[in-house]
Formats: sequence, C-alpha cells, structure tokens
Amino acid sequence: MKKHLTDEMYSNLKSFKTKSGYTLDMAINSGIKNPDSSIGIYAGDEESYTLFGDIFNPIIKEYHGFSKDDKHKTCLHVDDLRDASIDDEAIISTRIRVGRNLLDFPLGTNISKKQRDEVEKRVINALKSLTCKGRYYSLESMSKEDREELIKEHFLFKEGDRFLKFAGLNRDWPSSRGIYHNEEKTFLVWVNEEDQLRIISMQKGGDIKEVFTRLVQFLNELEQKLTFSYSKHLGFITSCPTNLGTAMRASVHVKLPNLSQDMPKFESICKKHHLQIRGIHGEHSKSEEGIFDISNKRRLGVSEVECVQDMVDGVRALLHVEKNLYM
Ligand code: ADP
Ligand code: ARG
Repeated sequence: MKKHLTDEMYSNLKSFKTKSGYTLDMAINSGIKNPDSSIGIYAGDEESYTLFGDIFNPIIKEYHGFSKDDKHKTCLHVDDLRDASIDDEAIISTRIRVGRNLLDFPLGTNISKKQRDEVEKRVINALKSLTCKGRYYSLESMSKEDREELIKEHFLFKEGDRFLKFAGLNRDWPSSRGIYHNEEKTFLVWVNEEDQLRIISMQKGGDIKEVFTRLVQFLNELEQKLTFSYSKHLGFITSCPTNLGTAMRASVHVKLPNLSQDMPKFESICKKHHLQIRGIHGEHSKSEEGIFDISNKRRLGVSEVECVQDMVDGVRALLHVEKNLYM
C-alpha cells in the first residue's frame, strides 16, 4: 500500500465513502498501524474495489499479475487436475480452503454487530441442509481447552492478529464467530473470521483430488442456500485483495529439511511455481522441524483447478530438489 499510494491519490480519494460508509482511511488503517504489512489494505465492501480502484488495482496487479482489463475465470472440474495424488511420506496433510462473503452485507471489516449476527444465523441455517454429518460450535460457547486443542490441531482460527485488528475484523470478538465441522474434521466452515465464510476440506496425506472433490461437493450444496458476493471481473469478493478471484488456498504441510537449509534456492523455486511459504501454524507463524505450509499464491485470473495445479506441480518440483540434495 505504501509503495503505491501517492499524496495525490490520497487527496483525491480521501473524501470518498462507499454506500456502506467505508473510507480510504479505514482501508489503509491496518497497513498504517502495521508498517511491516506485506499488503496493508482491506476492502469494506465490493464497491471499495472500484471507488478506491486507483490504489487497489496496482496492488492486485502486483500480487496476482491481474490487470484492470483482464477477466477472471472459474473451473471446478476436479477431473481436469493432472497427477493430483502426491504419494510421498514427506506430505503430512493437505488442506484446500475458499473464502466467501454474503451478497447484500458489507465485508467483516465494515459490518455492524447486528449484521454479523444475521450472517451467522443465515450460515448456520444453510449448514443444516448439508448432506454432511456435522455440527456448528459457537466460539462463545466453547471451553478455552476445546478452543486451544482445535487451534493446535490446525482446525480452528486463532483470535485475530494485529493485522486483522486494525482492519476492524476483531470487533465484538468472539460474538457471532464459530466453526462447523464433521465428525472426522475433514470438512469445516469458519464463520465470521477474516471473511464471513472460510470453507475448508482437509485430511492427512497427499490425496489432493479427494480433498478437492469433498470441497466442491459441499461448496455446491452451500451455494444452493446462500448467495455469495461475486463480480465478473474480480471473482469472489473478499476482505483482503490477496484472496480475490477463487479465494482459494490449496496447501500441503510438507517436510523439506534439506531444501530449507538453502533459503534462496527454496524461495526461487517457490517464486517460479507461484507458491507461497508459510509456517506450520498458518500465516505469520514459524516452521518447525523443517515442515512448511506450501500453497498457491495466485488466486485471481486463474481457475480453481489452476490454483490446485500450481500447488501440486510446485510441490513436486520442491520434492524433486529435496530428494536430490539428500543423495
Ligand atoms: P488460511 O488458510 O485461512 O489463509 P492460515 O494460514 O492462518 O489461514 O491457516 C489456518 C490453519 O490451517 C492453520 O492452523 C494452519 O496450520 C492450518 N493449515 C494450513 N494448511 C494446512 C495443511 N496443509 N495441513 C494441515 N493444516 C493446515
Ligand atoms: N494484511 C496482512 C499484511 O498485509 C495480511 C495480508 C495477506 N493475508 C491475509 N490473511 N489476508 O501483511
């Protein structure tokens, strides 16, 4: 944000307000309060992306390689994936999530308590119709121990960090936040975290196709009950511009003890394959015992199948180098 926001742009945009009352100052507050942000800007609603397009567009271009005149695309045909099972003991687990927000509500950054309550109600109602045996647990009604256990096991979000806090996403915490999951904890939905819904499919091992298939099945079912905010140009509308488009992050937890000794090489392979490196407890966390969270970086202008394929092809390339370094 600080790289692209000029004095002139700020003066031009500072008095604008979207219909839901979101301003440029609100959009950039997280980046201003956290100068170590990598992105530093959030939207308050779909309109933010056009009204403040002068600042959002170059950021979107830099992150996704997606220009103002490009078109987003979608493809959820799981069978289009190539070589989707990574049968390697280095792969500990696979997770694919998408973010979604409801049409007709502001995003979490600019939502009122009453609207957030209403979002939770609508989502709970939709979850009841799933052909998946699961239950919704509200964050408020969960014990501290249960919450901590779910976080430790990678199933539940932590309390919003300082980036989310200054974006307005921690307001009224933990009210109207919660998690739905099936018995096996292979299908989960987070409610009212950074986005109103984070729809997640995960399991141990590297059967990426199975994880993707489960996600698509329940996503289709939820779409029968909920209308998500979607634009032809930007795809699914999300609070953070990095999640626009497919809003998909497909990741594996993978052991790379050798390659991670050579960070420049590790990072250059990731860059070539459009991958992002995270630590073992999610964004802004550290790696432990040479295990990393490797996921697709681009989400806009590429289809869902391409997001997963980016991850699969990139992880195969990383494993190839990892094994050769070992020999
Ligand atoms: P998001 O995926 O929604 O962008 P995070 O990066 O914070 O958010 O990750 C959320 C949680 O999901 C964290 O606990 C993280 O460790 C866990 N996670 C991510 N990828 C995997 C994976 N492949 N296997 C198991 N847990 C994962
Ligand atoms: N706002 C944070 C930053 O700029 C996070 C950006 C991407 N991650 C996210 N969860 N939206 O560093």
